[in-house]
Amino acid sequence: MTNNMFFIANWKMFGDLKSINSTKKVIKFSKIKKYRKAQIVYCPPFTLINQFSKITKNSNIKIGGQNCHQNLKPGPFTGNVNSNLLKLAGAKFVILGHSESRASGDTNHLINLKIKSALKNNLKVILCIGETLSEKKRKKTNKIIKSQLVNCLKNVKKNKNIIFAYEPVWSIGTGIIPEVENLKKQILTIKNMILQLWKLKNPKVLYGGSVSSKNIDELKKITFINGFLIGGASQKANNFIDIIKKTII
Ligand code: 13P
Repeated sequence: MTNNMFFIANWKMFGDLKSINSTKKVIKFSKIKKYRKAQIVYCPPFTLINQFSKITKNSNIKIGGQNCHQNLKPGPFTGNVNSNLLKLAGAKFVILGHSESRASGDTNHLINLKIKSALKNNLKVILCIGETLSEKKRKKTNKIIKSQLVNCLKNVKKNKNIIFAYEPVWSIGTGIIPEVENLKKQILTIKNMILQLWKLKNPKVLYGGSVSSKNIDELKKITFINGFLIGGASQKANNFIDIIKKTII
């Protein structure tokens, strides 16, 4: 485990102005020498990005969006936010291909266009990949992940600004995490797929799905995981801090 691991908080459609205050504790924590290299990123709902950017301005904490529209130029796209608007609000990262966004219509092709637009705006992309329970049961995991990688990265050149997050859909919000040995193999397989696709050695691959302070000791046994994408457990400052403390020892 290195001390520059990623801890990405995906707040989904949770949080309000009051909850921003609770992150002050995390900001303070992030300044402790031992944890200064941890790459903490908050991805709050769009409407809170600006406030988050302001409050974290004098810290190493970065802000990200949870999705973006594929168009680079402004346009009549009611209800959407593009990578340019994210950047203007202070975001440096964007989560793309989350299974919850895929469930509401994001295809691999659309995600590919979104990745290109985000990279053009110098946002770092957190690309989510992972199989559903039924795909896992049908032993289609690797086939699905490979097709997500190949199609989402079509005509995208080898790029260090893309971080990958393996999020098995059956693990998100269920409290169930993969067996460590299986997860180890899966992360290695993904790293190999990226190596073959891009000739990129040591791509950053995170794990996401029910990460908590209770199971982090188990998950961190996989020394080559580059960090975690955390939903529910990132919403309470103490839980989030606990996860980081237990990982970086
Ligand atoms: P949970 O940590 O709540 O399972 O959510 C995981 C997730 O979807 C992060 O993107």
